[in-house]
Amino acid sequence: MEKILLHDKTFRPFISYSRLEQAIDGIAAKLNEDFKDATDPPQLLCVLNGAVMFTAELMKRLSFPLELISLKLSSYQGTKSSGKVLEVMGLTAPVEGKTVIICEDIVDTGGTIAALKHMLQEKGAKDVRICTMLLKPDVFKARTHLDYVGMEIPNAFIVGFGLDYDELGRNYKDIYVLDE
Ligand code: IMP
Repeated sequence: MEKILLHDKTFRPFISYSRLEQAIDGIAAKLNEDFKDATDPPQLLCVLNGAVMFTAELMKRLSFPLELISLKLSSYQGTKSSGKVLEVMGLTAPVEGKTVIICEDIVDTGGTIAALKHMLQEKGAKDVRICTMLLKPDVFKARTHLDYVGMEIPNAFIVGFGLDYDELGRNYKDIYVLDE
């Protein structure tokens, strides 16, 4: 695999698509076990834009009835978290009384996921589960429990498989890391 140039920065190959697929298989197996007897179909919440590829890959492995919903959040500007979570586009369906499975691409400090879980509980969700493809454990500082984690990675800035650097890089199926 080649290096890629996005805006002013170079990124080198870091996690292959086949390794990501294994991580997603693992999450899907756990969800299928946990929801096989669910009577009320849960909502799978795709956190746009970053989680779009992960949600699609995960969904096709899930064998229980579910609803797909989405919302758009933003907290990153450039390669640093701004600390503030902005709701750019609201929830596409009500969550009141529902079990919501949040699908996130990556959990960094945990600020985004903690704020989102709180927001869903305020809106009356009955049960909120957190599912993330990637976690940076070295910088995670929220006290929120992460129910399903695909893979842990070091604290580095990555792109690809839905993740962006100022909106570029989402389309690559492998993950790349900033080449410093
Ligand atoms: P947190 O609130 O610090 O946990 O940041 C989570 C959000 O920041 C994720 O939803 C991503 O959109 C974004 N993010 C965190 N780390 C990276 C990265 O390495 N590359 C691209 N986006 C990232």
